[in-house]
Amino acid sequence: MSRIRAAITGVGSYVPDYVLTNQELSLMVDTSDEWITTRTGIKERRILREKGLGSSHMAIRAVENLLSKTNTNPREVDMLLCATVTPDYTFPATANIISAAVGMDHILSYDINAACSGFIYALTTAAQFVETGAYKKVVVVGVDKMSSIIDYSDRTTCVIFGDGAGAVLLEPDTEGFGLMDFKLHSDGTGCRYLHKKAGGSAYPVTMRNFLEQQHFVYQEGQAVFKFAVVNMAEVCYQIMQRNNLRPDDVQWLVPHQANKRIIDAAAERMGLPPERVMLNIHKYGNTTAATIPLCLSDYEHRLRRGDNLVVAAFGGGFTWGALYLKWKYDG
Ligand code: UT7
Repeated sequence: MSRIRAAITGVGSYVPDYVLTNQELSLMVDTSDEWITTRTGIKERRILREKGLGSSHMAIRAVENLLSKTNTNPREVDMLLCATVTPDYTFPATANIISAAVGMDHILSYDINAACSGFIYALTTAAQFVETGAYKKVVVVGVDKMSSIIDYSDRTTCVIFGDGAGAVLLEPDTEGFGLMDFKLHSDGTGCRYLHKKAGGSAYPVTMRNFLEQQHFVYQEGQAVFKFAVVNMAEVCYQIMQRNNLRPDDVQWLVPHQANKRIIDAAAERMGLPPERVMLNIHKYGNTTAATIPLCLSDYEHRLRRGDNLVVAAFGGGFTWGALYLKWKYDG
């Protein structure tokens, strides 16, 4: 029998209804539609505004959408991983809350925190359980409610981020589809450029650090940009080289949606034309762990059995990496 690989057999997604446009942001901070569009490619983003609703609210809806689209009984699912940097609580894991809410009783579930690379880290982790034969149906969710950790008076961060969730189902495949290769990296020295300082064990929230806004995202945009633009492009190129993929062999680049200029640089390094690059940053902004499954969901109807996908991300940590996937079904 040929080796077991983990293949994506379905995609689901959810974004909140509220649309925060560049125009509305320009009434809140000193910015403009022109600046945001030319520097990032973002036109609008979704915001989960209702009080008391966390990331699990969006993730549950994305998983329910996935289960209904794939006709999957939640009781048949063996495991659920949730990639997020905005868990409902420090503990328990948001994955525990999601799996209980959708009727996946008593399964193995946990969160993975690799910031914007969270989804590709989680997908690779989940794939190991499928490839060993331990599990037959695994759900991987990427979700973030970035609006819960953004300072809406800081124009350098508030224009970039949005809220959303996406989920995929992984199942074993012996016909040559699924996760073919992965290359994942981290460099913790990147913490100084991109972090949320207060609220963890090093700096629990105090009145002082609260007043200093340390419970919000801190980003040195230019420094992060320089690391991201080089490393995401390079890892895409490396995974192509390692798998003897020429530009014509790759039907889709599925990039993390942080900045259109970073995405363009990766596509150029790979030799891919823009029409083979998944893009929805204009609609959702940077939803951190959710950008990649949201792209797969938006483009699912255009995917064909046998398509070669390079999926790539760069984010806080720093973390970055690329996957090579052979798509299993006609969307
Ligand atoms: O997803 C995880 C990882 N994160 C990323 O990959 C993000 C990487 N970084 C970026 O995408 C970009 O650095 C940003 C979009 C965050 C910023 O774009 P930039 O081209 O690097 O701008 P900058 O920070 O160099 O700022 C240029 C100018 C500054 O003004 P001065 O000093 O030249 O007068 C900023 O104060 O733009 C100003 N500026 C703004 N102006 C209008 C910064 N933010 C804004 C804004 N509206 N929202």
